[in-house]
Amino acid sequence: MKQTKIARIDKPISARQIIKDLLVFAINIAVIIGVYVGGIYLNSLGSSDVGFGEYFAGNFSNFLHLILSLILFATILVICLYYDDKNFFREEKNIEMVFLIIEINLIVCYLVGRYVNIYLRPMALASLLSVQFFGKRFAVYLNLMSTLLIFLMDAFTNSGIIGADLYSSLFIGYSTGILSIYFIGGVSERFTAIWRGALLALPNLLCFTFLHNFDILSDIQGLVCTLIAGELAVVAYLSLLPIFESIFKKLTGYKLAELNLHSSPLIKKMIEEAPGTFNHSIVVANLAESCATAIGEDALLARTCAYYHDIGKLRTPEFFKENQDEHNAHDELMPELSASIIKSHAKDGYELLMRRRYPKEIANVCLEHHGTMPMLYFYAKAKKLTDGEVKIEQYCYPGPKPQTKISAILMIADSSEAAIRSLETRTREKVFHAVDKIISDRRNLGQFDECPITMHDLHVIRHVIVNSLTGIYHQRIEYPKVDITGIAGYMTETEIEKTEEDDEKGE
Ligand SMILES: [Fe+2]
Ligand SMILES: [Fe+2]
Repeated sequence: MKQTKIARIDKPISARQIIKDLLVFAINIAVIIGVYVGGIYLNSLGSSDVGFGEYFAGNFSNFLHLILSLILFATILVICLYYDDKNFFREEKNIEMVFLIIEINLIVCYLVGRYVNIYLRPMALASLLSVQFFGKRFAVYLNLMSTLLIFLMDAFTNSGIIGADLYSSLFIGYSTGILSIYFIGGVSERFTAIWRGALLALPNLLCFTFLHNFDILSDIQGLVCTLIAGELAVVAYLSLLPIFESIFKKLTGYKLAELNLHSSPLIKKMIEEAPGTFNHSIVVANLAESCATAIGEDALLARTCAYYHDIGKLRTPEFFKENQDEHNAHDELMPELSASIIKSHAKDGYELLMRRRYPKEIANVCLEHHGTMPMLYFYAKAKKLTDGEVKIEQYCYPGPKPQTKISAILMIADSSEAAIRSLETRTREKVFHAVDKIISDRRNLGQFDECPITMHDLHVIRHVIVNSLTGIYHQRIEYPKVDITGIAGYMTETEIEKTEEDDEKGE
């Protein structure tokens, strides 16, 4: 599963935001120093050689080295993150999360190494958490940072870890972190994550074998810890994930997979109360997923947004064409009122999802998927009914325009599905012209001005949608009428009746 990083246009960071970020940075550096001091204190409790005060008196330069290295590594990490994605620092929760992940990893590894076994340390925990929330590239930076911080703790405190053990923990931390990023980071099922966690034992076992001169059975407890350390990291990661999701309101692949289930509460409600909207959403979801894959966006996020994009229609499902039979509720309404009911579904969807604490990324798509497009049908109807001037603004969605590539995909996929469904003949040429018009109309009306979608992306999206919709709504072959009375001798009366029924149903 791809990480849920969302493409937006870079905006400058305000001075206020920079000050907030610097403050969060300083507080977290102080917290990590506190963890180191706490570690030195706990180490001194178990040692008769070096007491807590004595350590600082005799090793102050060591401690200073530790602090300066910590500040240097943390600053390099922040600079890397800044040049990788400037938007990252627009939300201080991101920088809080990065440091919290590093701190938890440091504390858990210290406690397990100190009180259980050094080979059991779940060194991949930071990489696993960061790959879910920030993606693979960020996770590689964070893996390096967290490995170095554990190395600092081992090397520059009174941990008692020396020589080959010290350097092998550096190797284990870095290699299990990288393995976890690429083999577990993309997994959306918990069970798969757990069995792939077994892979993390490989670098541990390699180090353990060399450290024990190939006599691995000489330390059975160490061997068992070596083999299960990776699994411990995966279990700790899966346990912490929901806590991070709820504290920081962050999306993960696991959360998206849950929201995609037809048994999730709002989807279930849509199936029961607005089946037409549900079927429309399924087709839009398939289109959005293919488009997102084709332009390198998060396919699972696009699919989930598509499932929920029209959830606001649950308030008045009967006013939307896909849920109507012969009766059209708008026939009895003034066009102004009809337009206000239709356009409110975008805001209603946003409010419903926010009220139920759904991820904001999905709620935003509800609000943005029609942008500020006009509802030409009701506008034309109003113009017909009145001699006076009709203001087009009254017949436009309030916006905002799509802010992300995923919102733009949803806008195009949504309109394309509805337009193609209403075509009488759906040849490839007609589908192409309809989709092309949808994209160019929206481009001419400036609907893509606030998101980073490119002309190339739009070209790819058009190609994907035309291909998919031609496939979905292909022309059916008209079967020739054959008089079956001549072959009646080969069929029983019931079989003939059934064949006629099937023909009527078009099966
Ligand atoms: Fe909609
Ligand atoms: Fe829709």
